[in-house]
Amino acid sequence: MTKRKIAELMIIAFLFAFAPLLFAQGKDQVTALDKKAQAFLDGHRGKWHDMNIPEVDGKLLYDIIIKNRYTKALEIGTSTGHSAIWIAWALSKTGGKLITVEIDESRHKTALENFKKAGLSEYIDARLADAHEFVPRLKGPFDFVFSDADKDWYKNYFDAVAPKLVVGGCYVTHNVSDRRRGYFGLSSYADYLKSLKNFETTFDDRGAGVAISFKKSEQ
Ligand SMILES: C[S@@+](CC[C@H](N)C(=O)[O-])C[C@H]1O[C@@H](n2cnc3c(N)ncnc32)[C@H](O)[C@@H]1O
Repeated sequence: MTKRKIAELMIIAFLFAFAPLLFAQGKDQVTALDKKAQAFLDGHRGKWHDMNIPEVDGKLLYDIIIKNRYTKALEIGTSTGHSAIWIAWALSKTGGKLITVEIDESRHKTALENFKKAGLSEYIDARLADAHEFVPRLKGPFDFVFSDADKDWYKNYFDAVAPKLVVGGCYVTHNVSDRRRGYFGLSSYADYLKSLKNFETTFDDRGAGVAISFKKSEQ
């Protein structure tokens, strides 16, 4: 066997021996962030009082993003950041980023503090703005949208963002139910979503009511 062959074999043996260690190190880094985010959420359970989503809906957003490997997210209505933390936590695993907008300065500031405490600031671009003006100006594209601000503007937000959502992307609207008709006066919005031929909408009623609309085609 030549010296070169021996050297090659030694390199391969080295890589086989240390690959699990390198892999484990990467996993540990992710786990450290997971622990921080999870500890923050655990510590805040039952303490969200600014119209924040229930935990079950946060988990739902998290699962949708992870399952579809979404990376370009938009949230309309940050409040103090509960939903944004679930979304950003998922994005920390897909390599994505969230833009979130809130009109109330005090809630926006609290959200910024919460993002820091959860270790997720780098995954969130939080803006203090009126979404009525801010959202239509966004260029996109997005592959995940969570709409949770002023309910009477839901259709306007949807119409402004839907063309900027990629095919295969998902538009999630909070406090919308197909079963609980008249819920928040949003049944006409639910009907509107269902009428769209290029979206497939389903509803999840385990929490506060969520409409999940997947974009199937441009038209
Ligand atoms: C239901 S809360 C959002 C809760 C948040 N998604 C969470 O789970 O933590 C709705 C938020 O939308 C904000 N909002 C209402 N109208 C808005 C507008 N025009 N632009 C931006 N934010 C708005 C409200 O101030 C409120 O904080």
